[in-house]
Amino acid sequence: MSGWSIVIEIQVELSRENMHKSSLDKMQAFKDKYFHERHSEHLVIFDLGSQSIGGSYRQIFESPNWKYIGVDVEAAENVDIVINNPYEWEEIQSDSVDILISGQTLEHIEYFWLTMLEIARVLKPGGMCCLVAPSSGYEHRYPVDCWRFYPDGMRAASQFAKLEVVDAFTQWEDQDYADGSNVWHDSVLIASKPIDSEAFVIESQPLSERRLEILSDKGQTNLYRLQVQRTQQDLADMQTKVYQAEYYTRQAQSELDNTKIELDNTKIELDNTKIELQKNSQVVEEMKSSRFWMLRNAWFKVKNVNSDIGISSNLYWKDDLHLTINDVSFNLSCDTKELQTNTSSKDSFLLGKPRHLVEKAVAISHKEKIKKIFEMGILQGGSVVLYDQIFQPQVIAAIEYSAEPVNALTEYIAKYNKGSVVKPYYGVNQADRSDMGKILSSEFPRKDIDLIIDDASHFYKETKEAFNISFPYLRKGGLYIIEDWAWAHWSGDYWQNGQTPGLAGKDAMSNLLIELFMLAASRPDFISDILVEHSTITVRKGTGDLPMGDFDISEHYLLRGKEFGAWL
Ligand SMILES: C[S@@+](CC[C@H](N)C(=O)[O-])C[C@H]1O[C@@H](n2cnc3c(N)ncnc32)[C@H](O)[C@@H]1O
Repeated sequence: MSGWSIVIEIQVELSRENMHKSSLDKMQAFKDKYFHERHSEHLVIFDLGSQSIGGSYRQIFESPNWKYIGVDVEAAENVDIVINNPYEWEEIQSDSVDILISGQTLEHIEYFWLTMLEIARVLKPGGMCCLVAPSSGYEHRYPVDCWRFYPDGMRAASQFAKLEVVDAFTQWEDQDYADGSNVWHDSVLIASKPIDSEAFVIESQPLSERRLEILSDKGQTNLYRLQVQRTQQDLADMQTKVYQAEYYTRQAQSELDNTKIELDNTKIELDNTKIELQKNSQVVEEMKSSRFWMLRNAWFKVKNVNSDIGISSNLYWKDDLHLTINDVSFNLSCDTKELQTNTSSKDSFLLGKPRHLVEKAVAISHKEKIKKIFEMGILQGGSVVLYDQIFQPQVIAAIEYSAEPVNALTEYIAKYNKGSVVKPYYGVNQADRSDMGKILSSEFPRKDIDLIIDDASHFYKETKEAFNISFPYLRKGGLYIIEDWAWAHWSGDYWQNGQTPGLAGKDAMSNLLIELFMLAASRPDFISDILVEHSTITVRKGTGDLPMGDFDISEHYLLRGKEFGAWL
C-alpha cells in the first residue's frame, strides 16, 4: 500500500472519530503556555490533517497577527493547502512555519518518521510543533490503525528528526470528560527546531538524498551522539557508585583495623591474665603445702564435714522463696493452689517446701553419708533435683502417683547426663506393694538406701503402707523422713473444718506417729530414735534385722493384747 492511499484512509478515520474535547484542551494548553505572550508577532501556524469533522484547532489559534493554515491531503472544510505526497510536501517551503500542530493523525501514518522529517524541514529554526496522538483506545482500521504512542516513542520520533524535545507526556488517568475522550489517553509531543540547525536539508535537496543523509555516517553520528551522551551519563553514575563503594570499603577496612588492634589488646590482656593465673596457682600450691592448710583439713575431719560435697559455697538464697544451687534455681512455695498450677523448667524448679526443710536437708548432708535416696511425691520435680544437687547421690529413685512425666525433670536428666542417677517413676501409688516392691528391689537390691523421704499422699493409710513396703529397703542407721505429718493439727479453717475436699474423712497422720512411737518402744532394734518436728518425723532405723517376708509395723509393737485403732 502506498503512502498516498494511507493518508486517504486517515481522512476517513478523522471523519468518523471527530475532534474530541481532551485533544482540544491539550492544544489549548500548548498555545497558552508557549504562545500566550506572542500575539503581537506575525506567526504562521500549520495544522496537519486539518479537515474539520465536528471541529478543529483553528479557533484556538485565531489572532489578528497570526495566520492559521489548514493542511490536508484532501480538499475539504478547514483545508487551505492540499498536499499531494504525505512524505514530501512540495507545496510547503522549508523554514517557513512558526508552529506546526497535528491531532489524531500520526497513528494512521505507516512511516510516520518520514512525516517527522517533513515537519522538521518546514519549521523555522526556533519553531515549535505540538503533536497529539493516542496511547490506547480500540482498534479503528480505516483501513489501517498502525501505532499507539508513549512519551518515550514521542521523544524518539523527535530525536530522529533532530528536533529538541520540550515536553512529552501521556494522559494516563481518566479525567472529567463526558464525550468519550478518555478512551484514547492521548500522548503529546512538544518539540522545537534548533536555531542553529545546519543538520537540516535545504529545500532543493530531493527526498531520496535526505533519506540517504539520515542513513549516512553523518546522520548516524548525530543519532548516536545522543546515545553516547547517555552512555557517558551512565558511566558517570557508575563512577560515582564506584567512588561510594571505595569509600565504604575504606571505612570497613579502618573498622577492621581497629578491631584487629582491639583483638591484639585482648590477647595481651589474656596473656597477662594467664600469667596472673599461674602466679595464683603457685600461691595456692604453696598454701596447700602450708601448715594452715593442714590445720584446715584436720578441722574438717574433726567436724565430720564432707568437703567433697562443697555445695555450701554454691548455694545462694536470694530470699526465703528463691534459691540457687550451682546452675539450678528453685522457686519455693507451700501454697496448695500454686503447687497445683505452676510448673518447672529445666533450669528453674518449683519446690513444694519451706526454706527450713531445705536447710534441714543441707544439715543432714553435712552429718550423714547419703548416697542412695528413695523419694515419694515428685510433683514438679523440685525436691528430686534439690536432693540431687545437695547430696550428689549415686542414685535417687522417686515415685509419683500422676502418670504424666515432668518435662523439666526429663530435660534436667538429659542436660546433666544423669540418666543412671536420677530415676523417676510415674503412675505409681505409694501404697501399691507390687509396683513399689518391683522398683525398690530393682533399684536397691542390697537394701542399702541411706535416706527415704515420704512427701506423697500425707494420708495415714497410704503413708503407713508405704512405710511397711519401703522400710525394709533402708540400711541400718538410715533415715526415714515423713513430711507434713501434722496437717490434722494445723490451725485455720481449711485444716480444721473437716469438710475440705480431699481431706474430709481422712485419718490423721498422728495415728502413724503413735504407732511409730510404740514400735520404737517395743523394738529399739527396728527404730533407734524418732525426731518429731513441726512438719517432719525423722525415724532412724535400728541395728537389728527385720523379719523375713512382708513387713507390717502393727505386728511388732506391744500393747498388752489390745488392738490399735486409728482413733484420730
Ligand atoms: C506435696 S507434693 C510433693 C512435693 C515435692 N516433693 C516437692 O517438694 O516439690 C505431693 C505429691 O505426691 C503425689 N501423690 C499423692 N498421693 C500419692 C500416692 N498415693 N502415691 C504416690 N504419689 C502420690 C501427688 O501427686 C503430688 O505430686
